[in-house]
Amino acid sequence: MTKTILRALAGETLPTPPIWMMRQAGRYLPEYRATRAQAGDFLSLCYTPDLAAEVTLQPIRRFGFDAAILFADILLVPQALGADLWFVTGEGPRLSTITDASAVQALKPADAVHDRLSPIYETLRILSRELPSETTLIGFAGASWTVATYMIAGRGTKDQAPAHAFMQADRAAFSALIDRITEATIEYLSAQIEAGAEVVKLFDSWAGSLKGDDFDDFCMAPIARIVTALKQRHPGIPVIAFPREAGERYKGFAKATGADCVALDNSVAPDWAAANVQSDGCVQGNLAPGHMVTGGQALIDETRAIVQAFRGGPHIFNLGHGITPDADPENVALMIETVRKS
Ligand code: CP3
Repeated sequence: MTKTILRALAGETLPTPPIWMMRQAGRYLPEYRATRAQAGDFLSLCYTPDLAAEVTLQPIRRFGFDAAILFADILLVPQALGADLWFVTGEGPRLSTITDASAVQALKPADAVHDRLSPIYETLRILSRELPSETTLIGFAGASWTVATYMIAGRGTKDQAPAHAFMQADRAAFSALIDRITEATIEYLSAQIEAGAEVVKLFDSWAGSLKGDDFDDFCMAPIARIVTALKQRHPGIPVIAFPREAGERYKGFAKATGADCVALDNSVAPDWAAANVQSDGCVQGNLAPGHMVTGGQALIDETRAIVQAFRGGPHIFNLGHGITPDADPENVALMIETVRKS
């Protein structure tokens, strides 16, 4: 029997949507916090295959999700390209910054990801051996625009102003940076697929701050290029794209990029998305992560409404963004039970 997630990605409408959750391995789980303490810090956890595989498996054991997502981070690609990367506890990631054309020139070539990120491929090989036979293994990378915003600013930013400023000041150098990230991402995801990833997902967390031609050139075009290259090298590999907060631009996104599934953030109304996005294929989403903190009847009602809205087509149930550290694991169990009973 083909795995449920792969069936949904192939366009099949299932009686019950398969489920997984963004950031399902994370700080809301006591067993994650214990393994992370053992690793010492977040990056050591990412680069220690046995421990990264262990935290990937924890939510599968506890909740029986239909997919496991590789435990790693989107910022490992900039690190492989030569950026300094560190995490400040309680604040988030910090990187050395890229502010001009010469800094783009100085980046390592795309195939640097093969050596530098070899522990990540080892994590995937362990997972392909250890996952239950019904569980799909998802690999991932950041999409080019989102990764560029971190490389330019050196940190997460509210409005991505430094990246927009670089784009305005030197569109050619900015495009060269996007191209380098795109090429590295093709190599990286290709190696993930060879190591056992059955699906790959592209996270464009800051897609919502691109408008008009910039959305076409720096969100859609790089994703289309990655999807085309991966499908050439690995025929049939399904790709999920997450252009978070794309709004109206969710419409037509799958067709324009070749993605098999579009992940919806929780600002999108499920009925609108059923009519305008699911009409082109599988969708994923889109319960607000806050329900994993607050729980109760609102969680049940909203979960049922989402399942109902997407019942007529291929759907993978997920949150609209990552689960937060203050979430209650009991609410995750309640969400899963509600989906499977709906
Ligand atoms: O979904 C998963 O469980 C897979 C693992 C995963 C992580 N990060 C682990 C992580 C994935 C897919 C990501 C993607 C990621 N990383 C994105 C795109 C998705 C999104 O959230 O929009 C981004 C923007 C990053 C960069 C990043 N990594 C930030 C901004 C932070 C700090 C914010 C925070 O939550 O602390 C991280 C750290 C990070 N990545 C953690 C985890 C579990 C928390 C680190 C810890 O244990 O202290």
